[in-house]
Amino acid sequence: MKILVTGGAGFIGSAVVRLAIQRGHYVVNLDALTYSANLANIAEVADSPNYSFVQADIRDRDALDAIFDEYQPDAVMHLAAESHVDRSIDGPAAFIETNVIGTFNLLEAARAYWQKNAKPDFRFHHISTDEVFGSLGEDGQFTETTPYDPRSPYSASKAGSDHLVRAWHETYGLPVVLTNCSNNYGPYHFPEKLVPVVILRALAGESIPVYGDGGNIRDWLYVEDHADALLLVLEKGENGRSYNIGGENEARNIDLVRTICTHMDEMHPEGAPHDRLITFVTDRPGHDRRYAIDPERIRDELGWRPSVTVEEGLRRTVEWYLNNRDWWQPLLSRDGVGKRLGQG
Ligand SMILES: NC(=O)c1ccc[n+]([C@@H]2O[C@H](COP(=O)([O-])OP(=O)(O)OC[C@H]3O[C@@H](n4cnc5c(N)ncnc54)[C@H](O)[C@@H]3O)[C@@H](O)[C@H]2O)c1
Repeated sequence: MKILVTGGAGFIGSAVVRLAIQRGHYVVNLDALTYSANLANIAEVADSPNYSFVQADIRDRDALDAIFDEYQPDAVMHLAAESHVDRSIDGPAAFIETNVIGTFNLLEAARAYWQKNAKPDFRFHHISTDEVFGSLGEDGQFTETTPYDPRSPYSASKAGSDHLVRAWHETYGLPVVLTNCSNNYGPYHFPEKLVPVVILRALAGESIPVYGDGGNIRDWLYVEDHADALLLVLEKGENGRSYNIGGENEARNIDLVRTICTHMDEMHPEGAPHDRLITFVTDRPGHDRRYAIDPERIRDELGWRPSVTVEEGLRRTVEWYLNNRDWWQPLLSRDGVGKRLGQG
C-alpha cells in the first residue's frame, strides 16, 4: 500500500514510518519539520526505495493538492499536529492553525483526490488522543462512545479535528477510521515530555520535576506497540469507526518516575539512588487527573493487545536513551526544551 503519513518526522509518526516500510508498504512522509521534528528519527529508512520525504505544511492547501496529485496514495495516516499540552497553554494559536485548520485542509485535499480518482479502497486514518474525553475520577474508563469533554487548548484542538473527520465521513462519505490513544513513550521521544525528561535529568544529576502531588494517572502505551495498532486499524478497521488504543498500563506519574529511577539505578549506577532527585513542582493549570482506556473494541474486533508491560517498555526506553546520546544531545538546545512551560 502507498501511505501518505503526515508528521512522520515526529515521535509517533516516525515509528509508523519505520514499521510500515519494514512491512513492505511505500511511505510518503509529509512533515513541516517544526521544533519537535527530527529527520534522524527516520534515518534508518531514508535510503529505502519505498520511502519519499516531502517538506510541506498542512496549513498550505495548494501544497497538499500537489502532493496528492504527484504521489497518488492509497491511504492517509494523519499524525501531524502540535502535540505538547504545556506549549498549548502558552501559545494556543498554533494548535488551532495546525490541528484544526490543517486537518480541515488535509480532509479537503483528500476528498478532492478521492472523488477525482474514485479509489474504492482509499482510507483517511486520523490519529487522535484520549485527552479529548476529559478527566476521569477514581473509576471508569474511556470508551469510544464517551462524550467529548476537552479541557486544554491542545485537547480542544484535537477534539475539533476529530469532529471534522467524522463530519467529512457523514457528509461526503469520505472513508475514514479514527483512533484515540493514551500517553505514548519509547525511543525517539522529544526531550520535553515526562519520560525523557526524567531519564535525562537523572542522568545529569539534576532535579526531576513532578507536577502537583504526582498522583495524576495515565495509561502508558509503548510507541512501537502503538505503531503496530495503527497499521492494523488502517488495514482492518471498519469504515467510519473509531478505536481507542491503550497500553493496559495505568500508572500514577510518581510511580512511573520511580520505575524509571530504578532502571537508571541498575543501568547507570553513578548517582544512584536517582529518586533522591524527585522534586514536586506547581501543578499544570487544568491538569487532568486520570485517563484510562477501555481496550475492549480493538481487542475484540481486531484482536489487538499491547505486547509489553510498562516496566519492560520503560527498561527498553532507558536503555535506548543511554545508548543514543548523539540523538538527544542536539535537541536539548531547541527552543523551550528544559524550561518550565505552560504555567498559565
Ligand atoms: N505523544 C503522545 O503521547 C500522543 C498521545 C495521543 C495522541 N497523540 C497524537 O499523535 C500524533 C503524533 O504525536 P507525536 O507525539 O508524535 O507528536 P510530535 O510533536 O513528536 O510530532 C508531530 C509532527 O508533526 C509535524 N507538524 C507539526 N505541525 C505541522 C504542520 N502544520 N504541517 C506538517 N507537519 C507538521 C512536526 O514537524 C512533527 O514532526 C499527534 O496528532 C498527537 O496529537 C500523541
